[in-house]
Amino acid sequence: MEKIWDNKILTNGGPFHQQLEQALCDYLGVNHVALFSNATLALITALQALRVTGEVITTPYSFVATSHSLLWNGIKPIFVDIDPDTFNMDPAKIETAITPQTTAIMPVHCYGTPCDVEAIQKIADNYNLRVIYDAAHAFGVQDKSGSVLNHGDLSIVSFHATKVFNTFEGGAIICPDAKSKQRIDHLKNFGFVDEVTVVAPGINAKMSEINAAFGLVQLKHIDQALKRRAEIAARYQLELSDLTGIRCLNAVDVVVKNHSYFPILIDEKYPISRDTLYSRLRDSNVYSRRYFYPLISNFPMYRGLPSAEPSRLPVATEISRKVLCLPIYPALSDDDQSRVIDAIRRMAV
Ligand SMILES: Cc1ncc(COP(=O)(O)O)c(C=O)c1O
Repeated sequence: MEKIWDNKILTNGGPFHQQLEQALCDYLGVNHVALFSNATLALITALQALRVTGEVITTPYSFVATSHSLLWNGIKPIFVDIDPDTFNMDPAKIETAITPQTTAIMPVHCYGTPCDVEAIQKIADNYNLRVIYDAAHAFGVQDKSGSVLNHGDLSIVSFHATKVFNTFEGGAIICPDAKSKQRIDHLKNFGFVDEVTVVAPGINAKMSEINAAFGLVQLKHIDQALKRRAEIAARYQLELSDLTGIRCLNAVDVVVKNHSYFPILIDEKYPISRDTLYSRLRDSNVYSRRYFYPLISNFPMYRGLPSAEPSRLPVATEISRKVLCLPIYPALSDDDQSRVIDAIRRMAV
C-alpha cells in the first residue's frame, strides 16, 4: 500500500497492474492478459469485443454469470446438455442447436476440467462461429497443448475470493494477440483510446492497483496452494470413492489439474438424500455447496426459453440434483478434512 501511495497511481493501468499482467502471462503460459475488476464484466466485454449478437450456445450447468453476460448484451442463450463424465457442454448436442442466428459458442471448463476443445473448435470452424470460453475455474490448468486458456477466440478467468488464485475481486481476458488485447483494453476503459478519442461504448471494468498488488503477492504462493489442494483432493478420493452411493468426478486427459472444486454425486444408494446430507453437514459446521443447483436454465429469466425445458437437459438436471462440492482450500487442516470425511462415512452406514 505504501508503494501505491508513493507512486500516486491508484488505478487506470498503473505499475502493479502492468506487472501483474506480465507475471500472469509468464505463469500461465499465455500471450496476452487483460485484467478486469471481475470476471462477469470480462465476459460481457469479451462478447462486445467480438461483436457477438443473436444466439449463443451455452451450458445450463454453470454459475449464473455465464448466461447473464449474454442477457446484458441482448443475446439469446441457447442451452445444450452436458456430458455425464466431465459435466461440460456435450459437443454432440451443439450442432442441432445451431440456427441462422447463432454467432458463437460459450462453453465452461466446469470445475477446471477442460472441455472437448477440439470437437468444439471443429464445429465452430464449420459454421463460422466464435468460441468464448468461460474459464473462471481453470486457472493454471493444462492439457496436452499447454494452458487450456489458449483455446477458442478468448478465455475468461475469475480471480474472485473463492477461486484458486484471487485478487479479492478480479478477473481477466486471455487474448491471443496484441490487437485483440488493445481493443479489450479500450472497452474496459469506457472506449477511450486517448484523452479525446472514444471508439466504442465501453464500460468501466478496470482492476485497481490494490487488487493488482494483492494478486502479485498471492502469485508467490500459488504453487504451494495448488500442491495442498492436490493433497486434499487425493485424500477425499481415497477415503470416499469406495462408499456406496457416492461418485467422485474423475477428470480425464488433464495434464495439470488445479483441484478448484471437489464435486461428489450422491445417488439413491446412499442412505440419505443430497439435500439431507447438505443440511446435516451444515449443522455440524461443514459448509459444502450445491454447485450447480438450481441449473441456470431454471431461473425465472431463462426458464421460458424452449432450450431451458428440463426434458431437453436430462443429464444436467440429474447431476444438479445429485452434486455436492466438498470444502477444499489450502488452509483446510487434516483434522478438519477428517471431520468432513467421517461425517459422510458415518451417514453412509
Ligand atoms: C463459471 C463462472 N463464471 C463466471 C463467474 C463470475 O466471476 P466473478 O465473480 O469474478 O464475476 C463465476 C464465479 O464466480 C463462475 O463460477
